[in-house]
Amino acid sequence: MITKPKGTKDIYGMEAKKWQYVSKVIDEVMEKYNYDLIRTPVFESTELFHRGVGETTDIVTKETYDFTDRGGRNMTLRPEGTAGVVRSYIENKMYGSDDKPTKLYYNMPMYRYERPQAGRLRELTQFGYELIGSDDPLSDAEVISLAVNIYKILGLKKIKVNINSLGDTESRNNYRDALVKHFKPHIDDLCDDCRERLNKNPLRILDCKIDCDKEVMKTAPKTIDYLNEESKNRFEKVKEYLDVMAVEYEVNPSVVRGLDYYNHTVFEIEVNVEGFGAQNVIGGGGRYNGMINQLGGPVTPAIGFASGFDRLMLALEYENVNLLVNDSIDLFILYVNEEEKKYAAYLTNELRMNGFIVETDYLNRSLKSQFKQADRLNSKYTIVLNSCDLKRNEVKIKNNKSKQEDIISVDALIYYLEEKLSEDELEIYENTNHDLKNTQECTHNKEE
Ligand code: HAM
Repeated sequence: MITKPKGTKDIYGMEAKKWQYVSKVIDEVMEKYNYDLIRTPVFESTELFHRGVGETTDIVTKETYDFTDRGGRNMTLRPEGTAGVVRSYIENKMYGSDDKPTKLYYNMPMYRYERPQAGRLRELTQFGYELIGSDDPLSDAEVISLAVNIYKILGLKKIKVNINSLGDTESRNNYRDALVKHFKPHIDDLCDDCRERLNKNPLRILDCKIDCDKEVMKTAPKTIDYLNEESKNRFEKVKEYLDVMAVEYEVNPSVVRGLDYYNHTVFEIEVNVEGFGAQNVIGGGGRYNGMINQLGGPVTPAIGFASGFDRLMLALEYENVNLLVNDSIDLFILYVNEEEKKYAAYLTNELRMNGFIVETDYLNRSLKSQFKQADRLNSKYTIVLNSCDLKRNEVKIKNNKSKQEDIISVDALIYYLEEKLSEDELEIYENTNHDLKNTQECTHNKEE
């Protein structure tokens, strides 16, 4: 048997329905925040990630899936979304638009050759968004609060927002010098990678997975103490806006992020439930004012965020969040003879084109087995076609919950179903608790 590659997942059945539901909620929230969808290629030139994400980051030095294509070009499966979005922003001259800032979001698979474990995959999906073209601290606060709001709308309660600031170039350089001074006397205690990082990018030592528990890490200088006045004031403003939006957060100086492109605000959101597991950071992001210029575009400030979709799904499961996944169909049409079967084919098609979820039988089952199939699909209504009824242009329709039966004219079927299904939905809506109502509002208001 050929099996799936290590660190990948098949998503199907109820899990796929949950993914679809969560994606739909994300789409709808993004629409409210005026973000447009962007899709970029799964593979990009290797150089993009070296220049964009950084030569000294783990994901570029150790974790990329690289290949040479048949034309001899060096390609890499994207390990994250920001570099590709920025490449597209520059290549398509989106900076020329008067509509600023540019707000883009995505929900795409990424590839990192990591050691797989629960919540850590080699093919991972991220939903993320980038707000390009504003340096206003309000945009930092909005990007953070948007992440929090998506998690809240989905029903996550136990999340913790950690924020920090790396400051501007001057602050970062001061901090870099302080780190070198701190770690240099302990160089022999550090792992081989960290020894190399000391000269190339000492900030990366702070997210070393080997040395993380050593005393020298715990006593390392904190970014926040090296911010110049301007950077400090900017960070204060971000916090003020977060307070206005009632976003709860903690300033956590250990958040430095694993990618090279950040400056000023950085943040991570973790699942704050004991026992959730080591991979409890469900999302992270920050400001990257230098990247667009570094990749050949005009100097343009930007900030963004990405969340591990797989980790988010684990968190929802862990918190027992009842996602309002639709696991039923509206109607199952049953038939016995060929004439009725043809009518079933006609009616199924017609009703689907009018927006209903309709099924019929494709296995020439007995009527009894068709009823069983209708039950398996949680069909809300059933119609058993009958040649005599059809001659009168009528059908007998049954509500499978209340068992009530009605004989109605085929011409009135669409109106009948619309009315009955919305009455049923209202009943469910009124019987759900307040939190679920909020979620449903978010997912259903487009259809209303
Ligand atoms: P990142 O922190 O590398 O940031 O990844 C964002 C999120 O993706 C993580 O917080 C985690 O939830 C999830 N994730 C990362 N690696 C894995 C993995 N191997 N398996 C499962 N989930 C994983 C970025 O990717 C930046 N591009 C975020 C950003 C956007 N910054 C600015 N704009």
